[in-house]
Amino acid sequence: MLEKIKSLREKAIQELEASADSNSLEEWKRTYLGKKGFVTQLLRQIGSLPPEERPKAGEAANLLRDELTQLYEEKASAIKEAERLQAAKAQAIDVTLPGRRPQIGALHPVTQTLREIIEIFSRMGFGVYEGPEVEWDEYNFGLLNIPPEHPARDMWDTLYIAPPYGKDGNMLLRTHTSPDQIRVMELTKPPIRVVVPGRCYRHEATDASHEWMFYQVEGLAVDKGITMAHLKGVLTTFVREMFGKERKVRFRCDYFPFVEPGADMAMDCIVCGGKGCRVCKFTGWLEILGAGMVHPQVLRNVGIDPNIYTGFAFGMGVERIAMLKHKIDDIRYFYANDLRFLKQFRA
Ligand code: PHE
Repeated sequence: MLEKIKSLREKAIQELEASADSNSLEEWKRTYLGKKGFVTQLLRQIGSLPPEERPKAGEAANLLRDELTQLYEEKASAIKEAERLQAAKAQAIDVTLPGRRPQIGALHPVTQTLREIIEIFSRMGFGVYEGPEVEWDEYNFGLLNIPPEHPARDMWDTLYIAPPYGKDGNMLLRTHTSPDQIRVMELTKPPIRVVVPGRCYRHEATDASHEWMFYQVEGLAVDKGITMAHLKGVLTTFVREMFGKERKVRFRCDYFPFVEPGADMAMDCIVCGGKGCRVCKFTGWLEILGAGMVHPQVLRNVGIDPNIYTGFAFGMGVERIAMLKHKIDDIRYFYANDLRFLKQFRA
């Protein structure tokens, strides 16, 4: 029996030393000290030994149980400490790691273009004014010589503001920045030289060249003796600053109720230089804005005497300018929030 105890002890100690984590340690405990463990079984067998062997065997078995229990406890606390250290290490901050780069944003391509446009006009002495996107019907249409039943309203259908703010369709999302011609002329007296950047809205089926929300830059100059020559000079200068000194421009008659005469301006195609290609639809020209001499009735509407003052006005679509500048073939990219598109315009 004593032999048996001795070899059990050796085996137990050897296995205890080999167990390296709390799982194998608990397994060891069950194997030796558990209810059906070897040591427990051994203690049970003492009673069936011949009486002269019992005291020595009993003492040795009890000693073994106590010794193994103590060894178990020591090992358990060592393992616990080791595991705690390891967990702490896993969480520790490695101060030698390089830092994470912050994500740096960039201006939206339309904002970049807008700023470039404004910059060019401010070099020519134009100030900047901004008006409301939610506008009165009277400013968007009426005061611009477009009465309620005027057919020109058809090309500027928009979104109307419901009561209680708007009544009888008298409040809307502006369809162009032209209402700010009125606002500027109400606020200041000639000489006026101003550009008005801002968002506009239209009831529009979207396609590659139409969005229901877009940006315009309006321009207005009112003074004594302003003529069509000033309009042409300023806009030709703008085109050459924006798209290159070699650009040619073309003015053709166009109709807008708030100008007389009215014109559309085009420049020779920046892709083919006027020979004709897909971008200019084989015409050699790209239309970029509407313009004209401020209608005498519009001047009268704001209390400016058209016999003393004249003016020119123009309005351009900012997305269209950005599209030509960067050769973008679909306006919908601008507002689709696709970073693959937007990241190409990091300035
Ligand atoms: N407001 C016109 C449009 O949106 C453009 C324009 C502005 C035309 C000023 C003439 C003068 O189509």
